[in-house]
Amino acid sequence: MKLLEFVNLEVVESVKNKDLLTWLDYTSMEVKQLLELATNLKKLAKNNVHPPLLAGKTVGLIFEKHSTRTRISFEVGINQLGGHAMYMHARDLQIGRGEPISDTGKVLSGYMDGIMIRAHSHKMVEELAEAASIPVINGLTDLFHPCQALADVLTIHEVKGYLAGLKLAYVGDGNNVAHSLVIACAHLGIDVSIATPKGFEIDSTILNKAQKLAASNGSSILATNNPIESVSGADVIYTDVWTSMGQEEETAARLDAFKEYQINEDLVKHAKTDYLFLHCLPAHREEEVATSIIDGPHSVVFEQAENRLHAQKAILASILS
Ligand code: CP
Ligand code: NVA
Repeated sequence: MKLLEFVNLEVVESVKNKDLLTWLDYTSMEVKQLLELATNLKKLAKNNVHPPLLAGKTVGLIFEKHSTRTRISFEVGINQLGGHAMYMHARDLQIGRGEPISDTGKVLSGYMDGIMIRAHSHKMVEELAEAASIPVINGLTDLFHPCQALADVLTIHEVKGYLAGLKLAYVGDGNNVAHSLVIACAHLGIDVSIATPKGFEIDSTILNKAQKLAASNGSSILATNNPIESVSGADVIYTDVWTSMGQEEETAARLDAFKEYQINEDLVKHAKTDYLFLHCLPAHREEEVATSIIDGPHSVVFEQAENRLHAQKAILASILS
C-alpha cells in the first residue's frame, strides 16, 4: 500500500495494472483493502475532498447493454478522481459491425489508460483483457458483476459494522450478481445460503471455488432449493431480478419457476429481526420482492446504489493510479 500524503490515503498497490474480471482473481487481503479504501474515499467525498488520483487518465466505458448505475457511477467516479470518462456504446463501435474484440482492445490500448466493459459474454471480456495492454474492469457479464459485489459488502459493513460471521441469504436466480456476491462473501468470512429453484442454481464450478475460499476464511456457502431454509436466521437478505438482460424471451417461464421465491412479509419472518434487505437494482416490485420490503425500513437499496460510486473509485484508484 502506498501512502498518499496529501490526504493520508492508501491505494492497494498490489492490484496496480491488474484486470478486474472476477474477485476469484484477487486475494482476500486485496478485497479487504479495497473495501477499506472505498470507506476512506467515501468519507473524503462527503467532505468534498476528491483526491485527483486519475489526473490525466482516460477510461473508456463500453456498453453492450442498458445501464443506469454502472454508467453514471463510473462516469462520476472517474470525474471525481480527476480523470476523463469516455462512454461508448458497442453498436457505435466497429465491434458492432464485426471487428474482433481483440483488435479493439489493442487499438484502445494506444489511446487510453483503462477500459470498463459491460458485455453479454464473459468470454468476450476475457478476450478483450488478454489482448489489451491496459487494465480491463468488468461492468457486468453473463457470469459476473464484481463492482456490484464490492458495493454490496461495503453497504453491509457500513450498517452492521462488521462482516465475518454474518449470515447472508440470497434468494432467486443463480446469476451474475449471485456469483460475484458469493465470491465476495467468501473472501470476507460471511456465511451464505443461496436458495434457487431447481434448474436455476449458481454455476457449480463457481460454487466449488467459493466454498473452498469461504472455508479458508472460516465461513461456508450452502446451496438449497428451499427459501425458508436460506432466510432462517439471516442478517442480510439479497435478491435480484428473475429475468436478466438478454433473457427476455424466458420471462413467462421464469415468472412461473420463481413464484415461491419472492421476498415478502411471510418469508422475512424467518430472518433476524434486524435483517437488512439488499437488491442490486433495477427491481421489479411485486415480482422478486414485495413493495413493502424494498420500500420498507430494512431496505438499504439506495445506500447500496450510492456505494457503487465509492467502491468503484477504490477499484479505479488502485488499478489505474
Ligand atoms: N446494478 C446495476 O448494475 O445497475 P445498472 O444496470 O443500472 O448499471
Ligand atoms: N442480473 C441482472 C443484473 C442487472 C444489474 C442482469 O444481468 O440483468
